[in-house]
Amino acid sequence: MINSSEIREFFPSIGRVDHNKNQIIYLDGPGGTQVPIQVIEAISQYYIRSNANTHGEFITSQETDKVMDDLRLKMSEFLGSDNPDTISIGQNMTSLNYSLARALAKKFNSGDEVIITELDHEANRGPWRVLKEAGVKLIEVSLLKNGELDYEDFRNKINDKTVMVCMGMSSNALGTLNDFISVKSFLPQNCLFLLDAVHYAPHFSINVKELGCDFLLCSSYKFYGPHVGFLYSKPGLLEQLETDRLVVQDQKAPYIIETGTLNHAACAGVSSAIDFIANIGDGNSSRDKLINAFSKISSHEFALAKELYESINNLDKVNVVGKDFSDTKRTPTVSFVHSDFTPQEICKALASENICAWDGHFYALKAIQQLGLEESGGVTRLGISLYNTMEEVERVVSVISKL
Ligand SMILES: Cc1ncc(COP(=O)(O)O)c(C=O)c1O
Repeated sequence: MINSSEIREFFPSIGRVDHNKNQIIYLDGPGGTQVPIQVIEAISQYYIRSNANTHGEFITSQETDKVMDDLRLKMSEFLGSDNPDTISIGQNMTSLNYSLARALAKKFNSGDEVIITELDHEANRGPWRVLKEAGVKLIEVSLLKNGELDYEDFRNKINDKTVMVCMGMSSNALGTLNDFISVKSFLPQNCLFLLDAVHYAPHFSINVKELGCDFLLCSSYKFYGPHVGFLYSKPGLLEQLETDRLVVQDQKAPYIIETGTLNHAACAGVSSAIDFIANIGDGNSSRDKLINAFSKISSHEFALAKELYESINNLDKVNVVGKDFSDTKRTPTVSFVHSDFTPQEICKALASENICAWDGHFYALKAIQQLGLEESGGVTRLGISLYNTMEEVERVVSVISKL
């Protein structure tokens, strides 16, 4: 069980109140979570003590090398890879995915087919368009009206020309948990499998070995850290690619897809965010603690999101878009439309009560278009995170019910 009041103590931003003394409620987690004090301190300590570029002979540079090595190690534990050389670091997920797509465009042949989905965030769709320049065909898997991918369509679109499948593990717009396990089971042997874990990583533990993926991307600002992107690549794969890189940089994985000087201070913060999560769990190793922490986090978040879903879906003029909470194939992200108000109007009304929520398509543009919601402003998205409470859910439901 999560002890909410203990957890909330770590987040300085949670204490903020507005001019009416309404305490702030953060339901904007899918767009970026709040950051615990340990992470903030790790970032400032880096600047206070160890600020330098890497690979020098002096103390601050050597401490910076350690920050970067420690992060690769921690991130490899976080993703269940146990090999720091599988972890490439970048500005964010989108830029790493673009770099990967540009490199793969030089490997694939004209006539090859790459699968993307209508449900995905543009960051896992747009970059793959660069493959078209190499004559590669992009094939899109359809989204069903209930917010789930059409797995029959998925299976039908895979054939012996399919060289890669790029899909999200879950939808940042609708909270759908995708069936990436069964997709992996019907892929041809040499087909590359890429997973976008950006919306998944804050809620569930990940084991890249069990997933059998070749690439997986995530972003630490979604799991209580600063803005840094990560690419996991199966050992041996990155070296085969002609990435955009300088002749002076390290020509080995995981560095060959990284460009320029990384944000070392933020990297120190990400390690601290992973420690923060691990410390929520019990276990003998940090990996065990992470797994246990995520099982506590996901059950806490699911209970709150289910209550939120059931309460607002019962309101006359509200319709939740996407899957219900009858099973656990759900992230704690609840998106809805209202028959009298646009999502933007709803978010304004929530903001006037000091409640942070997003409206629109959240870059999952194709999904929102396919559901016929683009013209009306998309959806209002309420995202539950580790630090949210049942009292907050009740306050939000009460504001929405009075609209
Ligand atoms: C599911 C998903 N994929 C990719 C991204 C893009 O991540 P980044 O901002 O790190 O480029 C986001 C950001 O919201 C997302 O939610």
